[in-house]
Parts: sequence; C-alpha cells; structure tokens
Amino acid sequence: MNPLPRHDHYIAGEWTAPADGGYFASVNPATAEPWYEAARGTAADVDRAVDAARTAFEDPRWRDLSQTRRGRLLRNLGDLIGDHAERLARTETLDNGKLLREMRAQLAGLPEYFYYYAGLADKIQGEVIPGAGRELLNYTLREPVGVVGAITPWNSPLLLTATKLAPALATGNTVVVKPSEHTSASLLALAPLFEEAGFPPGVVNVVTGYGPEAGAPLTEHEAVAKVTFTGSSGTGRRIARTCADRLIGCTLELGGKSPNIIFPDADLRSAAMGVIAGIFAAAGQTCVAGSRVLVHREAYDEVLERVTSRAATIRVGDPLEETTELGPLALAEQLEKVESYVELGQAEGGKVVCGGRRPDTGLDGYFYSPTVFTGTDNGMRICQEEIFGPVATVMPFGSEEEALAIANDSAYGLAAGVWTRDVNRVHRMAARLEAGTVWANTYRSMSPMSPRAGFKTSGMGTEHGTEVIREYTRLKSVWINTSEEPAGDPFILRS
Ligand code: NAI
Ligand code: MG
Repeated sequence: MNPLPRHDHYIAGEWTAPADGGYFASVNPATAEPWYEAARGTAADVDRAVDAARTAFEDPRWRDLSQTRRGRLLRNLGDLIGDHAERLARTETLDNGKLLREMRAQLAGLPEYFYYYAGLADKIQGEVIPGAGRELLNYTLREPVGVVGAITPWNSPLLLTATKLAPALATGNTVVVKPSEHTSASLLALAPLFEEAGFPPGVVNVVTGYGPEAGAPLTEHEAVAKVTFTGSSGTGRRIARTCADRLIGCTLELGGKSPNIIFPDADLRSAAMGVIAGIFAAAGQTCVAGSRVLVHREAYDEVLERVTSRAATIRVGDPLEETTELGPLALAEQLEKVESYVELGQAEGGKVVCGGRRPDTGLDGYFYSPTVFTGTDNGMRICQEEIFGPVATVMPFGSEEEALAIANDSAYGLAAGVWTRDVNRVHRMAARLEAGTVWANTYRSMSPMSPRAGFKTSGMGTEHGTEVIREYTRLKSVWINTSEEPAGDPFILRS
C-alpha cells in the first residue's frame, strides 16, 4: 500500500516538519479510511509558529503597511479563494463529510468575508476626545493586539477560520491557527495562498495537531495576546480559564440547543422545511442547529407529519454525489455520541418516530438517519445537551408565554427560530428570546455583515460585523500638552 500523503506545519511561509517528528492520520468519514497525515504539533512547534508571528508583527513590511494596502491583501486572498474554490470545497468534503454541493455554496460566499474586512481595514480609527482642557489634546489610537491564537473545530473549518482570520488581519495582527485534528486538510490547502496574496511570511501560520498537545500550548504561550475559539463549551471554558490566568482576552463561539418555534398561523409547509433545514443540514453538526422544535398544539400533528415524512425520504449517502441530501457524521466518536443520545432519549421516555438507526448506504462511513423524537420534556438531557447530530425533539406548547419559557429554559443561548405571520408577535419574541441570533420565517441566514454572539453558555464576545474590530484591537489614549507655557511647580496647587 502506498504511504499516505504527509503535510507539515506552515510556519513563516515554509512547510516545517514537526519538532519531534510525529504525524497523525485524518479519516475520510464517508469511507472510514485514513487519507492523509498531518504533523502532530507540540509546544516546540507552537513556539516556532508564535515566534514567526511575533517577528512578522514587528516586520516593517506588515507593521508599516498602510491600512488600505492591508485591505488590498485581504481582497487578493478573497480572489484567490474564489480561483481555488472547487479544490478547497472537495478537500473539506473528503475531510469532514459535508455535502460537496453545500461546500461549493459555502466557498462561493467565502471570499465575501475577506472583501468585507478588506473594506473595513482603512476605516479603523481612533478619535479626538474633547473637554479635558483647552491646551490638552487627547486622542485615541486603535492598535492591533499582537499575535492572535485561533483554534477552530471540524464542522466548517474554512468558514470558521475565515471568520477569525479576516478581522484579525484587517486590524493588523498576526495569527497562528490550530485547526481541528479531524480536519486540517482544507486550511493546509489554503495556506500557500497567504503568500500568493502578498502577506509577508509569518503573518499567518498553521500548526496542526491535537487539542491538549498543540491547542493548549498556543493558549498558554506568553507572546499570544488574544485567543479566538470555536468549538465545544467544555473546551471553551478551559481556554477561558487559561486566558483569565494570563489576563488576555478571548472570543468564544460555543455550542447551542436552539429552539425553532412554530405558531399555528405560520405557513406550515415553509415552517416544516425550516425545521428540516435547521436540524438536518450538515447532519445537524452546526452550532446553530435547531434541535428543539416547539410547535403550537393546533399545528402539532400537521408539522410533525410534514417533518417526519420529508425526513424519512432524505437521501443519505456519499457527500460527493450531487443527489445526496445528508452526508456522514464527521467522526467515529460523533456517530457513537449520537447513538448514545438516541438510546438515552428513549431511556428518558422519548419516542423515536423517524430514523434512530444507521441507514444502509453501502458505504463504511459514519452515517446516521435523520431522527425525530416525540414525547420528550424540555427537562430531559436530550433536550438540554448539545448532541451535534441529526436529532430533533418535537414538543408541543399552548401559548406564546409557554413557548418563551420552554425556549429560554436552556443553559445555551445561541440562536432561535420563530415561524408566524403575526408581525407583532415576531417583535415580541425577538425581544424576549435569550439568543444571540433570532430568525423569523427563515433559519440559518448568515452574513459577514451581521454580528453573531452566543448568550449564556453559548459564548463570549462577538464575531462578524464591525463590532468584532474591538475584539482584535486595543485602545490607547494619548495626551499632549500643546501649551508653550513653562510648566509650573507641581507642589504649588493653584485653584
Ligand atoms: P473541541 O471543542 O474539543 O475542539 C475544538 C478545537 O479545540 C479543536 O481544534 C481541538 O483540537 C481544540 N482543543 C481541544 N482541547 C483543547 C485544549 N485543551 N486547549 C486548546 N485547544 C483545544 O471539540 P471536539 O472534541 O472536536 O468535539 C467534541 C464535541 O464538541 C462535539 O461532539 C460537539 O458536540 C461539540 N462541538 C461543537 C462545535 C460548535 O460549533 N458548537 C464545533 C465542534 C464541536
Ligand atoms: Mg477527517
């Protein structure tokens, strides 16, 4: 058998072998076969990458670049991603099993993340503060923080990296990215484009490896000034503790258990499609998955029937095939996790009315059928814990107040959907739902222009939009005495 292709770290613009020589395999989840090896990073590799990023931060080719030119480089990168879209989309599909169709759509939109922050790069500015005294000039400088450590998950590696990279670079920082050990390939495929776009070496570096071995040292490194993370709430908490000890900032985008709420006056056909898209897109492996479906009693039977009849016909299979509607779960562990939650849900008294098993696809990958539970209570663990798979619980409610109470009875607060034709109700719900994103008569809309924040245990800080600039900059206040008068004796107080 041929050895698997091997990929090294990308540090200071060079492919760099791991300091201790270790590599690990990544699996294609559609076939359950390993298909490449990536460098198994350790603290020594993180050291090299952070050193490169620190050097690049001081490099006049980056530090002294005008903000407009910085934007230009981001624009170049966006263009290059567009040129390489098909290759990048396929690479990610092979690594995490997301539908190639969906990846193509994602790649078509990905350059916009870089264009948006390219346009913002030269609008980042301080201000002049009045009032402290006629002869005192006080202004602020909004400065980059330095080296940013970015740690990303496996469900949408390129998109979630772009979300961090574009604003971090637009504000003049340098970055070390540690992708998920399950999906290093697409970012490694992207890495050479940084230099091609014109970024000086070391401005963006990639260290691959496992969380505790390569991720943790990145958060602990004394030269890392800021950490940005997307992933599970457990790991997010650990990272936040490390950052608290070091007194540096961190932005966290974590899990969810989002309610998708349907009132009887909604267009029930569209609402049912919104439920399907909310929980079965990407096999439910999205942080915003609409996993708790709340349906008004009057519409319950019809919505359940529409959802289960469509779910039962979803074509599960090879994510490279045009006709496939649901690909595999991204990892063997994820399949086991989903199976154990489906067992738990039944033990808790829930009833599986659709799916609840591994489908017969003729492939050896980590496939699981679209699954719908009824008879669940919001207090059950399957309604409170993030499953991160194609599993929906459909629960009835009787009034708007009750819907809000159930929806907000969650440790998470990432997103929520509302389906109704009543515009007043939309605004009442939007105001009272404890979620960073509320969608009405749609689900999963996303844009680099729109801020995304996780309430409660779903996160800390904001991504996307203009607000994110604050996350990647520090504010300096500068005072200047413009007077020509000689300074008086400081110990003689004048009134
Ligand atoms: P994870 O949160 O542990 O991993 C995310 C990233 O953090 C990876 O790059 C990983 O290597 C890194 N990491 C892990 N431990 C670390 C540490 N101590 N210090 C620094 N970095 C560390 O998620 P994992 O293990 O891949 O998946 C576990 C569960 O997390 C999934 O079953 C799913 O429920 C949830 N998850 C949620 C996501 C979301 O967007 N809400 C994304 C990915 C996973
Ligand atoms: Mg993989």
